[in-house]
Amino acid sequence: MLIKSATDINPSEITPESIYRNRRQFMSDALKTAGIFAGASSMVPSVLSAADGDALRARAPADLVRSPPAEWWVEKFSAISPAQRGGSYWTDEDLTPYQDVVSFNNFYEFGTDKEDPSRRAQSFKVDPWSVEIAGEVDKPGVYHLEDLLKPHMLEERIYRLRCVERWSMVIPWIGFSLGDLIKSVSPTSKAKYVAFETLVDPEQMPGQASRFSIINWPYVEGLRMDEAMHPLSFLAVGVYGNYMPPQNGAPIRLVVPWKYGFKSIKSIVKISFTEQEPPTSWNLLQSSEYGFYANVNPEVHHPRWRQDMETRLPRTLFSPARQSTLMFNGYADQVAHLYQGMDLARYY
Ligand code: MTE
Repeated sequence: MLIKSATDINPSEITPESIYRNRRQFMSDALKTAGIFAGASSMVPSVLSAADGDALRARAPADLVRSPPAEWWVEKFSAISPAQRGGSYWTDEDLTPYQDVVSFNNFYEFGTDKEDPSRRAQSFKVDPWSVEIAGEVDKPGVYHLEDLLKPHMLEERIYRLRCVERWSMVIPWIGFSLGDLIKSVSPTSKAKYVAFETLVDPEQMPGQASRFSIINWPYVEGLRMDEAMHPLSFLAVGVYGNYMPPQNGAPIRLVVPWKYGFKSIKSIVKISFTEQEPPTSWNLLQSSEYGFYANVNPEVHHPRWRQDMETRLPRTLFSPARQSTLMFNGYADQVAHLYQGMDLARYY
C-alpha cells in the first residue's frame, strides 16, 4: 500500500501554542485549513450552531460536504469539553491538518485507495442510525443512536493514530468513553470480550459490492473486556470539533490509540458481548500478518513491514516526517499492565 507523497499543507500551520493560547482562534484556523469558514461570526465555537452548520455546508469544498445533521446532533454537539492539557487524553504534538485527516483514509467498504472513502462516501446516510447491543448483556436491544448517546457528555481527546502501514496522525476526536457505554448496558459476568460490526449496505458502500473485495463483510473487530473498559478506549462521533465525516466512520466509530488503526472499526451497527474471543476481519484474512491484539509494538514486525519507524503525516518533500514508533504507540504507562506476563510476539 502506498504512503501519501508530498502535500502542500505544513503541520506548523497549526501550532500547539495557538491551541493553548486561544482555543477559539485555533478552531477557526483549523476550519480554514480545511477550506471551511465558520460563517459571518468570528466567534468560532468548538461546535457548530445550526447557522454555522449551514455556512459550513454552503462553503465547504464539494468533497467535504455532508448531509445536514438532525436537530439532536446539533444539540449533542452544543457542549463539548475540550481536551485537557497534560493528561493522557491529550498530546502536544502537532495536529495532523484536517484536510489530511479527512482525505487520506482506510475504509475498505468504499474502496481500497486512500482517496476512495472521501470521494465515494459523501452521500452515505447516517441518520437515522441504530446500534444493536447483543450477547452477554442485561440490556440487549436495538438502540437509536440518539438514545445510546443521550447519557454521555461529549469530550475532545487528542490521540495518536498509528496504522500498521507505518503512517501515523495526531487527531482531535470528539466522543465519549467506550467503558461508559458498556456500563450503561450492564454486561453479564460471562462477558469476556466485546465484538463490533460495521454496517453492510452494498448499495451505499461500493467496496462491499465489488467482486474483487478481499474482506468478508461485515468488517468485524473485537477487544478483550479489560481493554474495552480501559479509559483510553473511545467511541468517536466527531473530529476537529465537528461532526464525523463519513469517510472517517460516521456516525460512530471506535478509537483505540495504543493499537494499530485497523482495530478502530468505523460506522458501527452492532456491539456484542461474548465469552469467546470474537473473529476480526484482518485476522480472518491473513492471520500470520494481523493478530487479535494488534498492539503497536516496534519490536514485533509485520512480515512485510518493519514496525520500528513511522511517517507522521503529512509528509512533504522537505520533511520526510520519519520518527521512531513507541511501544503501545506511546501509551505504555497507561496500558502495559493489561498485557503483563503475555508473550507479545505470540499474541501480536
Ligand atoms: N473500519 C471499517 N469498517 N473498514 C475499514 O476498512 N479500516 C481501518 C480502521 N477502521 C477500516 C475501519 C484501518 S486499516 C485504519 S488505519 C483506520 O480505520 C483508519 O482510520 P481513518 O481513515 O479515520 O484514518
